[in-house]
Amino acid sequence: MLNEKIARKINPKETSNFSTEADHLDVLSLIPKKQFTLNAIAPYYTMFPIQFPLDKLKIAAPNDWVLDPFCGRGTTIYASRLLGLKSIGIDKDPVAVAITKAKLIKITPEVIIRECEKILSNDENFTDNIPKGEFWDLAFDNDTLAQICKIKESLLNDCKTDARIGLRGIMLGALHGPTGKKIQSYLSNQMPRTYTTKPGSAVRYWIKHNYTPKKINVLDIVDKRARRYYEDVPKKVNSQAYLHDARKIFPKKFNKKFRWIVTSPPYLGMNNYSTNQWLREWFVGGDEKPEYAIKNNLASGSPKKFEKELSNVWRNVSLISDNDAHLVIRFGALPSTPYDFESIIQKSLSYSGSEWQVEKIESAGSSEDGQRQSNQFLSSVKHSMDEIDVYARKVS
Ligand SMILES: C[S@@+](CC[C@H](N)C(=O)[O-])C[C@H]1O[C@@H](n2cnc3c(N)ncnc32)[C@H](O)[C@@H]1O
Repeated sequence: MLNEKIARKINPKETSNFSTEADHLDVLSLIPKKQFTLNAIAPYYTMFPIQFPLDKLKIAAPNDWVLDPFCGRGTTIYASRLLGLKSIGIDKDPVAVAITKAKLIKITPEVIIRECEKILSNDENFTDNIPKGEFWDLAFDNDTLAQICKIKESLLNDCKTDARIGLRGIMLGALHGPTGKKIQSYLSNQMPRTYTTKPGSAVRYWIKHNYTPKKINVLDIVDKRARRYYEDVPKKVNSQAYLHDARKIFPKKFNKKFRWIVTSPPYLGMNNYSTNQWLREWFVGGDEKPEYAIKNNLASGSPKKFEKELSNVWRNVSLISDNDAHLVIRFGALPSTPYDFESIIQKSLSYSGSEWQVEKIESAGSSEDGQRQSNQFLSSVKHSMDEIDVYARKVS
């Protein structure tokens, strides 16, 4: 196991510090390149680069448990798997949890392809519930949309097996993106892959540029993607992803005494993740149109409310963590936010009532070096963001 190779090079005592000689260990070179592929199975509205959690977790001991209470598309959870570490990811967004789950299975591409074939050839229980309107007419070819809806309905009825979990991850990644000149990789008319365009502007754009949707056989795309993402997956480790609100107390089953928490809460000012990926939300059971109403979101409302709610999360996390657990938080704010986000994150930790002690805070790097989370969605927010990394330890 990879982690054993790393552990052999590190004195276990060193693992209690954030900065050790092991920081210079070239973990990435020990992981077969092909095994990184599955991490890219589907984009998510915000995500940090996998190098970030890998770099923090490379000094973890082989039996340490890892937690990400805002796991998004499961970058920390997949990094843990690559290092052979057990982990739990939590997110309140069903798309996030679906993508994370797709990164935890061990399966061959053929099993996923066969499952897709089986669903498409079975008409028995299909209710033919296909969304209608100008957006849907232009977003997908009619036959392609019918196939997408059939798979969607079948997966909503049952998504328990690894084959179905893998198929759902593949569909979420293939749902929309740029059209190719000759070869198609996505199912939609011309669209960005990271975020879903709002219906009105998508329709205006397609009409203005005379873009019509191509007829795409969903099985061909699933076949290609299953072979790309599931050809060489890392060894399975004990990992789970749960749909849960991190502000609420964690159920007993999370009581793992986590030693590492590597996470990134919603950025200040980012009120609604689901609006920006509403087509993927639709695929996992959401509305046929974006939901604009901000419903009880962590990052909405005043900075005071944000600090308080975030402090609840750190308190909950503390309850299920080891006495000397490490907490690493990547955090930032939208450029339009006038508040001091560094002080907000510090206050959230000090108000948490648990013993999280901040050891250092550093810049997350320049926007040129690819380390920032905001790089992933700059095209939709147009400006660079400030991001910091906060390192804290639990002291008791
Ligand atoms: C900055 S993103 C994390 C991205 C992640 N690091 C990745 O690489 O994909 C923040 C995540 O927090 C989730 N979130 C927001 N409020 C939450 C809550 N109260 N409980 C759990 N997750 C929440 C959002 O759905 C979003 O996926």
